[in-house]
Amino acid sequence: MLSHEELLRFGQEHLFLNYRQPPIVMVRGEGSFLYDKDGVEYLDLSGGISVNALGHAHPRIAAVIAKQAYQLGHISNLFYNDKQNALAEALCARSFGERVFFCNSGAEANETAIKMARRYYYDRKETRYEVISALASFHGRTLATVTATGQPKYHEGFGPLPEGFKHVPFGDLPALEAAISEKTALVMLEPMQGEGGVVLPPQGYLKAVRELCDRKGVLLHFDEVQSGMGRTGRWFCHEHDGVAPDSMALAKALGGGLPMGALVSVHRIAQCLVPGTHASTFGGNPIACAAALAFIDVVEEEQLLDRASEVGERLIHGLRSALSSVRWVKEVRGRGCLVGIELEGRSARPLLEALRNQKVLVTVSADNVMRLAPAFNIPWEALDRGIEAIASAVKTADKERAA
Ligand SMILES: Cc1ncc(COP(=O)(O)O)c(C=O)c1O
Repeated sequence: MLSHEELLRFGQEHLFLNYRQPPIVMVRGEGSFLYDKDGVEYLDLSGGISVNALGHAHPRIAAVIAKQAYQLGHISNLFYNDKQNALAEALCARSFGERVFFCNSGAEANETAIKMARRYYYDRKETRYEVISALASFHGRTLATVTATGQPKYHEGFGPLPEGFKHVPFGDLPALEAAISEKTALVMLEPMQGEGGVVLPPQGYLKAVRELCDRKGVLLHFDEVQSGMGRTGRWFCHEHDGVAPDSMALAKALGGGLPMGALVSVHRIAQCLVPGTHASTFGGNPIACAAALAFIDVVEEEQLLDRASEVGERLIHGLRSALSSVRWVKEVRGRGCLVGIELEGRSARPLLEALRNQKVLVTVSADNVMRLAPAFNIPWEALDRGIEAIASAVKTADKERAA
């Protein structure tokens, strides 16, 4: 059997060097816990970057995946499959959507939204192609979605970037209005920014954007890759604002841990992608669709949307009271199981390492924000342990800073 050290060395020597993995090799997960090759237990508050909404190795999801693998694995989209059709219906029944295109990732879902918007206006013989998105947004790593991503650090060295993309400050309605031109096809926004630092827009902003887009004849797309599928306590984050887009991208939690993306749209716009215009070989794979259906069932049967809200309230309240005396903790904010701790004038990365030494896993977004994305069903005792560990790591860093 290969040792921890050997496995580590294989990864270090043969994987691309585009990540900053710590020297740990995970081999097993169970609920909110991960276990490395030596059996060391970690409390996972990172959720596989906001994916594992029911934690790791959920027995219902694992059983459904195994059963489906024996029944029907891959057939492509040359044929209907029962699980894909059922999942499309399930997503439409829970949203504004009327049609679903399945793919493999959040980037691919957003890429499809961009292509669909351009094609929609092309069919109408209007020269609208421009995409307006927000500064500090994150929409993916393909060339088009990284260009839509409003963070120049992700563009560096990848030019020339595709044409027709603009960025405006998130939450600034006049700036958006000024940016919209007769060439604008699509406004693309996260209803709550995840990678950009866990940022909620000002109250009423999304509704005003909807009105503005309607007035200007521009399509509105919400990127719900991180904020969707129940993470904020509703199936989709935009529901909190009582507003619906024309299309939305889903991924991350959607596939119950399997790689899967989806673009959900109203029929009027979706119908422009006729045969031959767009496709995905693996999109809507029966195994991923079966896992997604099981995920939706478990969330509804166990009332985990409400639980996600309660987790968020307990996390935000617990962290605010534990960290109130630390002056460089600027804000604790979020919604449901997506919470950020913003630090004043310092990177959150050293805290990540300190917490890892305490066997607690968190992630960083926007460098100075610690991001927490626990499972909706995390046990209260584990959540409280996480709050204590974070408070202790922050206070130790505070003492070191004062010394
Ligand atoms: C809001 C948002 N959109 C798109 C993406 C890209 O998703 P993927 O990594 O599945 O392509 C992410 C990933 O973090 C995201 O947070």
